[in-house]
Amino acid sequence: VTSVWNADHMNPSLAAHWRLLKMDAARWIRPQEIGDVSSLRLTLIVGLLARHPPLRAMAWFRLGSALRDLGVRGVPSWVQRRLLRLYGLELSVGADVGGGLYIAHPVGCVLAGRSIGANVTVISQVTFGTRDDDEWPTIGDETFFGAGARVLGGVHVGHGARVGANAVVLRDVEPGVTVAGVPARPITPHTG
Ligand SMILES: CC(C)(COP(=O)(O)OP(=O)(O)OC[C@H]1O[C@@H](n2cnc3c(N)ncnc32)[C@H](O)[C@@H]1OP(=O)(O)O)[C@@H](O)C(=O)NCCC(=O)NCCS
Repeated sequence: VTSVWNADHMNPSLAAHWRLLKMDAARWIRPQEIGDVSSLRLTLIVGLLARHPPLRAMAWFRLGSALRDLGVRGVPSWVQRRLLRLYGLELSVGADVGGGLYIAHPVGCVLAGRSIGANVTVISQVTFGTRDDDEWPTIGDETFFGAGARVLGGVHVGHGARVGANAVVLRDVEPGVTVAGVPARPITPHTG
């Protein structure tokens, strides 16, 4: 059975999305950490899916995106509506989202980035969206977004940056920097 789930035996599009879903699942081995994808067996993935509704939301997203890539009509938009109805999550099926997206609490999150990197952490009620133009944010790898964070317009949030709870990001955030406030500005963490 496991060989059926081995990406080497799959259609390339399905395989790509399956690998991304495995990265998503690896974020839930220990919630929020970046787990070891190679340690994931099918039984562990099924167990994580059973325990964590936000991971199930990601599974629907990956499935919808894979079907969209395969040219299946109708089902991806049904999946999109399902994400909103069941999980309160707005994330466009087919959007450029790296593996390992960890959404602690999907309800009320609107994640419309130009692209979202790998192993991004979103806590709750987060918005990635336009400001007053048609530009969407670019979200770097291993970034963190606290509860209620908003990232608006064509800004870049650099690799490893952290955005504090309720911050409103209107300018680029340099890699590794922590920002907070409205509008968001760099802060100096007391630790780390
Ligand atoms: C931004 C964040 C990641 C920084 O954490 P940290 O590196 O430990 O930073 P510190 O707590 O040492 O705070 C450093 C300074 O920034 C301020 N600060 C921290 N988070 C802030 C925020 N969200 N908004 C405004 N100021 C903030 C602190 O008051 C402190 O200011 P001071 O130097 O004047 O005392 C964290 O505060 C945060 O917002 N995390 C989100 C948590 C969350 O979403 N929880 C919901 C769970 S359901």
